[in-house]
Amino acid sequence: MTAEHGSLTVGVIGLGHVGLPTALGLAEAGWHVLGADDDQARVGKLARGAAPFYEPGLGELLGRKLADGHFRVMARPADAVAESDVLFVCVSTPPREDGTIDLSHVKQVAELVGRHANGYKVVVEKSTTPVRTADLIIQTVQQLSDHRMDVVVNPEFLREGRAVHDVLHPDRIILGVESDRARATMERLYRPILDRLPAPGECAECERIGRRHAAGERLLITDRTTAELIKHTANALLATRISFINMIADFCETTGADVAQVARGIGLDPRIGPHFLHAGIGYGGSCLPKDVRSFIRMAEAQGVDVSLLRAVAEINERRIERFVDKLRQTLGPLSGKTIGVWGLAFKPGTDDVRDAPSLKVISRLLAEGATVRVHDPQAMDNARQLLPQDSRRVEYCASPYEAATGAHAVLLLTEWDEYRALDWTRLRRVMASPVVIDGRNLFDPLDVRAAGFEYIGIGRP
Ligand code: UDX
Repeated sequence: MTAEHGSLTVGVIGLGHVGLPTALGLAEAGWHVLGADDDQARVGKLARGAAPFYEPGLGELLGRKLADGHFRVMARPADAVAESDVLFVCVSTPPREDGTIDLSHVKQVAELVGRHANGYKVVVEKSTTPVRTADLIIQTVQQLSDHRMDVVVNPEFLREGRAVHDVLHPDRIILGVESDRARATMERLYRPILDRLPAPGECAECERIGRRHAAGERLLITDRTTAELIKHTANALLATRISFINMIADFCETTGADVAQVARGIGLDPRIGPHFLHAGIGYGGSCLPKDVRSFIRMAEAQGVDVSLLRAVAEINERRIERFVDKLRQTLGPLSGKTIGVWGLAFKPGTDDVRDAPSLKVISRLLAEGATVRVHDPQAMDNARQLLPQDSRRVEYCASPYEAATGAHAVLLLTEWDEYRALDWTRLRRVMASPVVIDGRNLFDPLDVRAAGFEYIGIGRP
C-alpha cells in the first residue's frame, strides 16, 4: 500500500525504551507495525511475547498486539524497510567521552533505508539527535536511493515508567516537516491517537500531571531544525528546574526553611507550575544527563553562551558528593560501616539504571570502605551488571527490611511506592543504628523520628 491510499504500514527500527512503546502504541492505534532490531536475542524474546525490559503495561500490550497481528517482529530489518510506508528511526544515540553524540547507529539505519527502499518512504527521526541530524539522514538516504523520500523530525517525549501512557495520551506531537506529502502522512498516522484522547476526568494519570488540553492544541508543525531544538530545549529546561530547586534546597538547609514548601509555594503560580521541582540527589537516566551535555557541546560549537547549562550540569554532578557528605557527617568515616540502600533505578517505575544517581552514590560508599546491602523492586538484575561483583561488599536483598538488617544507616535513593509504608518499629529493631537519609524526600520526618530514628532529608529542617 502507498502512503496516500489505504492503510499505512509502519516500520520501527530499534526496539528499546523509545522504539518498543512507540511501535506498540501505533499498533494499538490500528496501524500495522513491523519492528526490527539488530539485537537478535531481543528480537527472539519479543517474538515470543516477552518484554525485554520493565515498563508498566508494556508486556500486556505486546501480547495483545502480537495476538491481533498489528505488531510483527521482523528477523531482517531490510524487510521492515521494504514493507513500510513510514519508518521510525529509534536506535540509540550514545554519548562519546567528550559529550558529543555518536550517530553511527542512525547513519547505519539511513544507509539501510537508502539500500532497501523500493519507493517513497517517510523516514521519521524519533531518537534524540543533535540539531541538523535530519539533514544528514536525508543526504545519506538519497545518496543510496533513486526513490525520492522525506525525513520528518518527530521527537519522543516518553517518560520511562509511563511510556505506554505517554504514547497513547501524548501532551504534544511535534512534526518537523518540509514537504506536504510527509506532513499529510504523519498527520494521518497520529490521527487515531489524537481522536482517542481521554476526555477531561477520564484518565487519572493525565489528571495528575494536568494533561488536559484539546487534541487540536497537541499537534505542532514546524521546520525540521526547530523540531530538533524543541526536544533539546525541553530536556534542558527540565534539567534546569531540577538543578534550580536543588540549589534552593541547599539554601534551605543553611536557613532552616523547607524546600518542599518553597516548591509548593512557587508552584501555585501558573507561570511556574508545580512539576519537576522535587529536590533530591539529582537527575539521572539515559536522557537528561546525556542530552544536557550534548546540548552544551552543540551550542558551544555555534558560539552560544551556555554558561547557564554548564552550571545546571555541575550542580547535578555535585549532588552525589553532597549527599554522601550527609552520611559522613552523621556516621563519621565510612570504612567498615554497613549501609542499606533502598532503590537503584534512576527513578521509580523502571528497571533502568543507566546514569542512575544510586550507582554513583554506591561507588563512593565502596571507595570509602563501606559495605552495601541493596534493594530495588525491579532494577537489581540490571544493577548487578554494573556494580562490582564482590558479594562481601555488595549484597542484594529481597526486601527493604533485609537491606536494613545490620545497617548503620539506610539511604533512600529511588522513591518507589512500596517504600512509602514501611514498618519503622521493625526497621529500628533490625538496624545497627537508626539513621535514615532520604535522598528523595519521600518519608514524613515526623513518622520516622517518632520511631526513634535520626532522619535527614534534602532541604528540610
Ligand atoms: C526524560 C523526559 O522527561 C522525557 O520527556 C524525555 O523524552 C526523556 O527524558 P525520563 O528520562 O524518563 O524522561 O525521566 P524524567 O521523569 O524526566 O526524570 C529524569 C530524572 O530527574 C530522574 O532521575 C528523576 O528522579 C529526576 N527528577 C525528576 C528529579 O530529581 N526531580 C524532579 O522534580 C523530577
